[in-house]
Amino acid sequence: MTQATKRAWNKSGWRNKPRVQMPDYADKAALNAVEEQLAKYPPLVFAGEARRLKRQLGEVAEGRAFLLQGGDCAESFNEFSADSIRDTFRVLLQMAVVLTYGAKVPVVKVGRMAGQFAKPRSSPTEKIGDLELPSYRGDIINDIAPTAQAREPDPQRMLQAYTQSAATLNLLRAFSTGGYADIHHVHSWTLGFAQDAAATEKYRDLAARISDALDFMNAAGVNSNNSGKLRTVNFYTSHEALLLEYEEALCRIDSTTGLPVAGSGHMIWIGDRTRQPDGAHVEFARGVQNPIGLKCGPSITTDDLKRLIEILNPENEPGRLTLINRFGAGKVGDHLPKLIRAVQEEGFKVVWSCDPMHGNTIKSASGFKTRPFENVLREVREFFAVHAAEGTYPGGVHFEMTGKDVTECTGGVRAVRDEDLSARYHTACDPRLNASQALELAFLVSEELSQRLQENCKAV
Ligand code: PEP
Ligand code: CO
Repeated sequence: MTQATKRAWNKSGWRNKPRVQMPDYADKAALNAVEEQLAKYPPLVFAGEARRLKRQLGEVAEGRAFLLQGGDCAESFNEFSADSIRDTFRVLLQMAVVLTYGAKVPVVKVGRMAGQFAKPRSSPTEKIGDLELPSYRGDIINDIAPTAQAREPDPQRMLQAYTQSAATLNLLRAFSTGGYADIHHVHSWTLGFAQDAAATEKYRDLAARISDALDFMNAAGVNSNNSGKLRTVNFYTSHEALLLEYEEALCRIDSTTGLPVAGSGHMIWIGDRTRQPDGAHVEFARGVQNPIGLKCGPSITTDDLKRLIEILNPENEPGRLTLINRFGAGKVGDHLPKLIRAVQEEGFKVVWSCDPMHGNTIKSASGFKTRPFENVLREVREFFAVHAAEGTYPGGVHFEMTGKDVTECTGGVRAVRDEDLSARYHTACDPRLNASQALELAFLVSEELSQRLQENCKAV
């Protein structure tokens, strides 16, 4: 263990470290009042749940399960509704079914939901028309409306984000365990989908095969009444732990282990812009026992990565650390192999996950921020190919998607064209895959993964 990892930790220690991408609140008294209030509120998630997720991610790290993580780029106060939560949850369930059926591995399901509010930005200001305004940083920090007043960071927004997260989690828990997620409903999860999408057709075929298998199992005496595994799913929440005042206020001591736990979500991650080894965000994350994600973009060096792994996972616990790669299509081969080799040489146990979104954002001819779907698919293929060449396990995927029929990423079977983007472009931040693009992607991942697992079987 290095010196860095032996250092004592407390939940406010990040305040003594350099911080980036965090707002400066003008009214410190108002900020303190909000922090005190949040500190009294119940945690949104419980330590035992975070530990269970870590165990399941440990299975992913060992190559025995697969991580599916996805949801909004940024949750928003305006778009908040039971329907949009249900729609995203439903697409994630469908994607998980495609993966479980196709690749025959358990799928660990994690939403970018119930807390994904704070956004790092590439520039502190943005130009809207002739106005130069402070950048929008997510609804937990400021308002997206293009006025100087709206863009002022307001600590009260943390309370609204907490309340929305609590209501979202309440619904997710109900969907997960209250009957909606029962695998016998595999068919009905397609309702509301565009009927013509090829991915939907493929999904229907698969659902029919699953129903058949369920009929057989029922005849053999296994059904939802006697098997909780058929009736319910484990579904977890995650977000970027960017706004550290909020994270600190929701940090709790786990009464079972006596260790600190982030109560804001089951898994938290550190963004590509805030992963400085000596910085505030790494400092906060190293002390909580939740599973941690670390975004790794093209600028990360093998030395950075080794140092970060030693700080964030000093006990080399499988499932503690997920490395979320986001290099961009065509660049995976330049970056990933050397990172994998460094990790292998040190014997570090990590989950390798692919975020094919954040390295593939472009500005379209019509001026929208978009992501060509073929580049998203290409990055996923490259990720699988590099792991196959290195003999390591491609453990998961991380997407920005929504259950709605938005037009934010171009391409897909029901091709969204550049000129279509304006039709239903609703994201508060980055462009998301729509429901049919997300499903199409799940089929690709399922094919890649099952091929990879079959090759492994042959090799053993
Ligand atoms: C994100 O996941 O929304 C994000 C900002 O990612 P990154 O830190 O990888 O840019
Ligand atoms: Co994003």
